[in-house]
Amino acid sequence: MYEERIKTLIAQMTINEKAGQLQQCGPSLVGAFEVSFEELLDMMFDGRISQEEFGRLMSTAEQDFHEEDLKAGLIGSYNGIDNAATANRLQKIAVEETRLGIPLLFGYDVIHGFRTITPIPLAESCAWDEELWEKTAEMAAKEATAAGIHMTFAPMVDVAKDARWGRISEGAGEDTYLNERYGAVKVAGFQGEDLTKKNAMIACVKHFAAYGAAEAGRDYNRVDMSLQKLYEEYLPPYEACIKAGARAIMAAFNDINGVPCTVNASLLTDILRKSWGFTGVTVSDANAVAECVNHGIVPDRRSAAKEALNAGMNIDMTSNVYSENLAELIECGEVEEDVLDQAVANVLRLKYELGLFDYPYRTDEKREERETLCKEYRGLAREAAAKSMVLLKNVGILPLKKGTRLGIVGELANAKGEMTGAWAIGADVEACISLVDACRIQNVPYTYGAGYEEMMVNKEEIKKIAAESDVLIAAIGEHKEESGEAASRADISLPEYQVTMLNYMLETGKPVVAVLFNGRPLAIPEAAEQIPAILEAWHPGTEAGNALLDILFGAVNPSGKLTTTFPYTTGQCPMYYAHINTGRPGGKSKFTSKYLDTPLEPVYPFGYGLSYTNYEYSDLRIIKKKDAARITVQVQNAGRIDGEEIVQCYVQDVSAKRVRPVKKLIAFKKREIKAGETVSVEFTVPFDKLGYFNDEMQYVVEPGEFKFYVGKNSEECLAESIVL
Ligand code: GLC
Repeated sequence: MYEERIKTLIAQMTINEKAGQLQQCGPSLVGAFEVSFEELLDMMFDGRISQEEFGRLMSTAEQDFHEEDLKAGLIGSYNGIDNAATANRLQKIAVEETRLGIPLLFGYDVIHGFRTITPIPLAESCAWDEELWEKTAEMAAKEATAAGIHMTFAPMVDVAKDARWGRISEGAGEDTYLNERYGAVKVAGFQGEDLTKKNAMIACVKHFAAYGAAEAGRDYNRVDMSLQKLYEEYLPPYEACIKAGARAIMAAFNDINGVPCTVNASLLTDILRKSWGFTGVTVSDANAVAECVNHGIVPDRRSAAKEALNAGMNIDMTSNVYSENLAELIECGEVEEDVLDQAVANVLRLKYELGLFDYPYRTDEKREERETLCKEYRGLAREAAAKSMVLLKNVGILPLKKGTRLGIVGELANAKGEMTGAWAIGADVEACISLVDACRIQNVPYTYGAGYEEMMVNKEEIKKIAAESDVLIAAIGEHKEESGEAASRADISLPEYQVTMLNYMLETGKPVVAVLFNGRPLAIPEAAEQIPAILEAWHPGTEAGNALLDILFGAVNPSGKLTTTFPYTTGQCPMYYAHINTGRPGGKSKFTSKYLDTPLEPVYPFGYGLSYTNYEYSDLRIIKKKDAARITVQVQNAGRIDGEEIVQCYVQDVSAKRVRPVKKLIAFKKREIKAGETVSVEFTVPFDKLGYFNDEMQYVVEPGEFKFYVGKNSEECLAESIVL
């Protein structure tokens, strides 16, 4: 649609201006830190500065926006501009002071909300709620575009089966199908129906590809797997996002089978462009083009520029390798100019699709003021947080009665800043509501104490709190910096001081409810054994405290279900439900696949989550249609409280020419079921979804037995087979 205009514009551009369109800058901070935006991000992520400090610096320190380069037409986009005034000021320079007036593209990490923060993606995935996922993405797009942002580096749909990996917090967990559905609706929510609308925000799906399979769960580590595994388990969520219309995609830091994604032509060109028909923009991860030298795949920055551009990498995010080398590489003929032109065309196409050539200023400070942290957004953040929480255990304590006096122990219950999770760099932390804040706001009687200082538990304080309370709430888990990027952990058990604190709380004799604030599955066998009620709250976002009280006091009946397996111990990682059977599946006999020192089963399985009511499944039936299986099951709400139930449908290819998982999620439905009501839930599973890649990498659906499992989680299912 814009191809003629693109061609005409490219014909007028100098080589430097073309390279400029591929140059993405981050605001450098020349203030107190004399460091770049990326280094400052690093300092925040490794805890050298707090998120609040980072935010203050970003807003106060003098920022260098490389305006001389901008005026010379050498910058095509920015990462990290977070307000309308700055965005419009830079846009004005680009449109009015450069030779060709090509508008800028502003990208930002709007991962789970911009100023109004919704639960971390791993949490929100536990809602299994496509409508909610789309609504929160739409809200994030409204708030972020009001601040001048055009593109978000999201959704992240890296399938993650290893709880040691800190970035498991950022996606939809261990299952391929769930990541596909989560990603596709997030793209729809971010982009809407028409990219020229001022609320539309381009989705840049990431990290392509298989970043979540980092060896040993160690961030940035190598990824090495069979092509069958890559195509069956890791690529489908990215493809689902591209098919849903995502207009950008970010290459992952890791290599795949020895070739870093940033210079991986089979990913960036063969699969993405030729097989999937993608016509949008590829973006490197931060500094990743330059880091190809560290990978040892190129000898120097100049070769990195050449290999990346030729492989199909369009935008160089903040490494400056393209701006330093492309012109010379073209002039000496080592890179064809039409390769450069194709990359530039992709970037210009996005800017045309956004309508930026006609309307370069899509927001102003009035709109930004009006649409930030508004009541409607906070209401949705609260709903999303409650729907993302997972009730893991409840021996007759929850829901609490109105007036119950809470004894709250643990600093995570009183730490606004911890509620946003690791990837909420635009968050307004002061606007966050902690559990203690919510008790104060809602006049819930409570006593609070951190319970420990420098990891030394204060038993006297806990006893004192218990004496004034009816129920104790233990706030345990992780600080937000313990998950997210560059935050892998080699031990995912609770820290000793939290276990001690739990024991002291149990010793008081008062009922104890553990509330987990964390960004990954944790190994909590002791708590699971001893604590009568456990609520997984994750890092729930701006409305954390209010959502927690909604669940604890029963205003909301918990419905969340885990999208990652909770192992007994770190040593079991990676641990996931869609495993193969092996020739000696675990059992009583010595010579079976198991561990000597830990159970084979998880503490909590994939798909698990309790409710204040209970659901009973019956009458599973399968009818073989011409090209699909039609599956029905009856689900009764056998309790006295209305609720929402997430009905899961798994399938097993019982015998194939390559071993297949014991079960694989193939469909799910979330249904409101009133107390006492029975509903019929139906799934239609096309037979062409039952295939796999054979030795020759052909996708085949073979005849034979297929077993369908339908139930409330990956372990409690009814089963029926059909034969194809
Ligand atoms: C980070 C992350 C990526 C993010 C990018 C831009 O290193 O890997 O997910 O989008 O930088 O901030």
